[in-house]
Order: sequence, then C-alpha cells, then structure tokens
Amino acid sequence: MIRERTAPTSGFSIDMGKDQQRRLYDRLMEYGRSAAYPFHMPGHKRRITPQGMKETYRMDITEVDGFDNLHDARGILKEAQEFAAELYGAEETRFCVNGSTGAILAAISAVCSPGGRILVARNCHKSVYHAIEINGLRASYIYPHTSQRYAVCEGIYPQDIDKEWIKYPDIQAIVITSPTYEGVVSDISGICRAAHSRGVPVIVDEAHGAHFPFSAYFPQSALQCGADIVIHSVHKTLPAMTQTALLHVSGDLVDRERLRRMMTIYQSSSPSYILMGSIDSCMHLLHEEGEALFDRYTDRLESLRRDLSACRRIHLLSREDLDPERSIDLDRSKIVLFAGAGRGEALYQRLREDYGLQFEMAAPDFALAMTSAADDEEGFDRLREAILQLDREYREEEEGADWEADRAKMPRPEQILPAWQAVRMKKENTRPAEAAGRIAAGYVYLYPPGIPLLVPGERISDETLVRIFAWRRAGLEITGICEEGPGAEEITLQTVIEGEHV
Ligand SMILES: Cc1ncc(COP(=O)(O)O)c(C=O)c1O
Repeated sequence: MIRERTAPTSGFSIDMGKDQQRRLYDRLMEYGRSAAYPFHMPGHKRRITPQGMKETYRMDITEVDGFDNLHDARGILKEAQEFAAELYGAEETRFCVNGSTGAILAAISAVCSPGGRILVARNCHKSVYHAIEINGLRASYIYPHTSQRYAVCEGIYPQDIDKEWIKYPDIQAIVITSPTYEGVVSDISGICRAAHSRGVPVIVDEAHGAHFPFSAYFPQSALQCGADIVIHSVHKTLPAMTQTALLHVSGDLVDRERLRRMMTIYQSSSPSYILMGSIDSCMHLLHEEGEALFDRYTDRLESLRRDLSACRRIHLLSREDLDPERSIDLDRSKIVLFAGAGRGEALYQRLREDYGLQFEMAAPDFALAMTSAADDEEGFDRLREAILQLDREYREEEEGADWEADRAKMPRPEQILPAWQAVRMKKENTRPAEAAGRIAAGYVYLYPPGIPLLVPGERISDETLVRIFAWRRAGLEITGICEEGPGAEEITLQTVIEGEHV
C-alpha cells in the first residue's frame, strides 16, 4: 500500500491499496531489487535519479500558478525549452511527454497536407506509418539495402532521394530514421542538400540519438547536418524517464505555428510535470556534468567493444561491417551481437536466464544491448564476461561450422490501397495459404523495433509470408498475426474483404 509518510498539507491522502495497483507496484519493486541488469530502456537505468526527482508524487501537479502551461509556454517551461534548444544547438525545441511517437505524429501532420505525398525510408518506426494513415497520405518508400554479411539495414543514400523525385515531384516531406535501432547512421547532410534544393523539409527520427551531441565518440547529430525537424527520445539513451522526448526545429521550411498546434493536438492537455521535470533535470545534468559523465562512459564503452571484438564466434557489429557509402557512421553505444542465422533469440534468452542480463531486443540473427552514460563498471564487466564465455562455448559446440547470416532482404509489397482506406474496409482472418495475393488489413511487425513488415493496403506476397515463418521459427513474437499453434498454417492474418466498406 502506498501512503504518504507525512500527511500532505491539504490534509488528505488517497489509499492506493487496490489489488491491481498493488500487483503492478509489487512487481515493479521486486524487479527493481533483483540482480537483473537493465541493458534496455529507459536510459536512467534506475541508477541515476537526479537530485530532487526522488519524491515524484510530491511533484505531480497540474498547471498551478507559477508553473506555466506547456501548450502556451511563457514562463518556466518556455525557459526550460529554450535551455534545451541551446544545449542541442536548435533554433527551437519543444518538450514532448508522449515520446518520440507524439512528436513524429505532430511533425508529419504539420508538414504535409491531407492526402499529400510523403517520402519515407521503409525502415521507419510504426508511428510514421500511423501519421501517414491518419493524414490520408500517399507514401513512397526508399528501401534501405541490407548489409551483405550481417543482416542489418544500411543507411539511406542521398541519390535514392533524387531517383524518387523523378517519379514523384509532388513529395511534401522526407522522413528518415537515423540512427536505426542497430545504430546505423545515414548521410543526413547529403539527404538535406537533395531535399532543400527542392524546398522540401527533412524530418529525422533520431529517437535513438539524443546522446550524439555530448561526445565526439558518437556520430554527428542530424541537427548539425541541417535537418529541419529532429526528434529525440530523451528516455532511450539519456538518464530521463520513459515517454520523455524533444522535438527540435530549425530553418524556414517548417511552418512553426502549425507545428506548435500539432504538438498541442498530439499531447495530453495535462502534460506530466514529473516527465517535464525529468527532461529539464536531464538537460541540466548534461550541461553541468555531461563532459565528465560521457568521458567515463565512452572510455568504458571502448574498452568493452575492444574486448568483445576479440570473440571469434559471436560477432560485435562495427563500422567496418557497413558500406561506407550508404552508412556514414555507426552509433557505438549499441552493442549488437550476432550469433548466427536464427540464433538471436537463443542468445537473448541465455543472457537473461543464465547471466541475469536483460537485453533490449532479439532479432533473427542478433541480440541487442542498449548502453547509456548511466551504466556502471559492474554492468559492463558482467556483459563482457558473459559474452566471452558464451563465445567459447559456441566455438566448442560448433567447431569448424560456417557462420551463416540471414541474408533475406526486406520484402517490397505492392501498395494496392492507401492505409487509411484499408483500415476502414471490412476484414477477415485468413490462413497463409489463402492470404497470399490478398490485401493486408492490419500492420505486421516485431516489437521492438516496430518497423512494419506489412502495412494495411499492401498485397501479401509469398516473400512476406516466408519472412513471417522465419520469424516464428526463430521464436520471435510477432504483432499483427493471430497464432493458434506452432505450425505454419496455425496462424491467420487480417485481410481486407474487397469492395466492402465498414
Ligand atoms: C526509431 C524509433 N522511432 C520512434 C520511436 C518511438 O519512440 P517513443 O518510445 O519515445 O515514443 C521508437 C521506439 O522504439 C523507435 O525505435
């Protein structure tokens, strides 16, 4: 039961002893006290709790006098946002308490007119697709290449933008995810040059790169590369609470007033002061102690990476594995460990069960750890020892076996209907044998990373189904399919009943 220890001045406290609340609370407390090491979000890792943020319930207020209003900031919140803008070198920065998700929805809604055309990298987060759906946009995709040796998406090539322009001169905005979940960084300067020469704004989903400006060890931020809107999840890689994000805007290609309005639409009218306080504390921490924190962090990270790159069976993704023309940098804060085709989930589970290391995600071939400046020596030592030991074990088990990679490319489904239309059609659940050739009524993706394999309105191809079966064989959890058993035919996908509208 949670009770204020000392009675609040208003003279009442609320009994939070309902069963539901106690269960979640107890489990959270239990997990917090366990030896599980958090190589996952949020970036504060439950280790850095900025002074003054400990008593969160005392700070959970609404827009009382003296605390300003996020949706019409003129006082303390205006100053806090200006401080963040200065720290990041943006012309204007806005706090977002609805994660990068809210900022992406607002940004796309601000720069595109309903029914307009948008050019997006196909490996974007689902929030980009949701913005396309709710604005009724027509989407053109740039498909990133898959790296030759290790199955990750390479960066987006500026020339790919030029090619799309010839086909679709009515593009209103470009959205690129850089870095990707695995840390791959695109040539944002080149992409901005290509877009700006046509007067079109570039939105960079830099959700995973909020830490970039704080050490030269990390790639250059999209803000420095000239992007018009850059979105950061503060909570992913910096010590701040879940849901905290920043939206930065620079240049004159974006209608700032419209963007402000959209931020108001896509955020709660009661934004949490705890979250806003967490962003502000994080910004001040970076300003005051960022250099020392990041020096310590990057030294530890480099030493960890050096040791892990000596592994002979498990492979740590490094810059050398990528095509320098397409991927101009790699965020080395991401520890991406390849274990072989279909072995990512097994590695992820071994680390969790036998070493108490909770990774952020598993993909068919790899397991991924997120690190941050809040990680300590103990965590890195545990990770180092676990991987070196597993590498020895894998080598003994598989002496002489060839390293196999999952080389499957991202399928390129044909777009038949715009997403907004497909989700409004009548739908039915269809077995794979009948689903091939039908139109998808829902999204299908792995979460994380939340990149849709299939978008409503796309034709389901054999290639897509093969990919779904490969994910299932690798033991990955797929969102958007209905599973009734382990077999290939024991799933269904939502398909459109053609010609029938809801
Ligand atoms: C590339 C990318 N963009 C955006 C988001 C959404 O971020 P948030 O969780 O802050 O809403 C995610 C979340 O995982 C992501 O991976």
